[in-house]
Amino acid sequence: DQLTMEKHQHNRSECVHRLPGCIIIGARKCGTRALIEFLKLHPQIISPNDEVHFFSNDTNYKLGLEWYREKMPPSCPDQITIEKTPKYFISAISPSRIHRMNSSIKLIAILRHPTTRVISDYTQICANKQAKNETAEPFEARALDRQTGHINPDYKATQISMYYLHIARWLQLFPLEQLHIVDGDNLIVNPLEEIRKIETFLQLPQEVNPESIYFNSTRGFYCMRKSKTGPEQCLGVNKGRKHVNISEKIVSRFNKFFRPHNERLYKLIGRRFSWR
Ligand code: A3P
Repeated sequence: DQLTMEKHQHNRSECVHRLPGCIIIGARKCGTRALIEFLKLHPQIISPNDEVHFFSNDTNYKLGLEWYREKMPPSCPDQITIEKTPKYFISAISPSRIHRMNSSIKLIAILRHPTTRVISDYTQICANKQAKNETAEPFEARALDRQTGHINPDYKATQISMYYLHIARWLQLFPLEQLHIVDGDNLIVNPLEEIRKIETFLQLPQEVNPESIYFNSTRGFYCMRKSKTGPEQCLGVNKGRKHVNISEKIVSRFNKFFRPHNERLYKLIGRRFSWR
């Protein structure tokens, strides 16, 4: 609206490519796309459209910070640039590289129920295979130990959901105050609540308009409308897929497997999630 327009009007020359002041580090399949799209509704948040994969990819990293900066859309002085690359979460080298760029940068991690994340991850792998006319290995073959039937801790998707291991690595370099953790399960059902917490974390005024986020019952997810007369925008069909069916028995085996990891995480971050 007019007031917002005036408040955020700048001399064009002031609006330049800037390094991010905040990075969404992941985790994959926890709602990273939804999160950044909701945040872009804020007039003071600017973000590149694609994942940049700078810190986690040696080839890109060698291109240097100037290359990275150029990847960011121009932002004005009162705006904050946010980049999201879910790969950073699990990348061992990313925390120190980010720390070297800006040790006071704000970090956002989004997490969801670890078992749900594994199934979502596997569902995505199946979909990607299918698109290439291939079939993915059965879930059990990847996720369980063939001999014992126990959870295979080396399965990549399981590794990603051991959140404690990854968060601990980030907290070796960054103080907890610099890391905001978004509840990905809550982002699905109550996006505005999670957005408000981020506005506070980023010290921005509450300017994401509740009317721009509405529940689309056909999709079963919240979608966006950037202006009153603007088009409805939902995420692509690759977000919010119907999950592959995994037996109750395997699900509870996973839940049990993750329990001690979750407890370690709660202790580390001084906060609990209701993952059971
Ligand atoms: P599923 O596809 O398993 O349901 P990411 O963007 O990190 O890959 O995360 C994808 C997940 O975002 C989806 O996982 C979905 O549950 C979640 N999500 C959260 N809010 C959403 C929204 N408004 N629309 C679509 N998906 C959303």
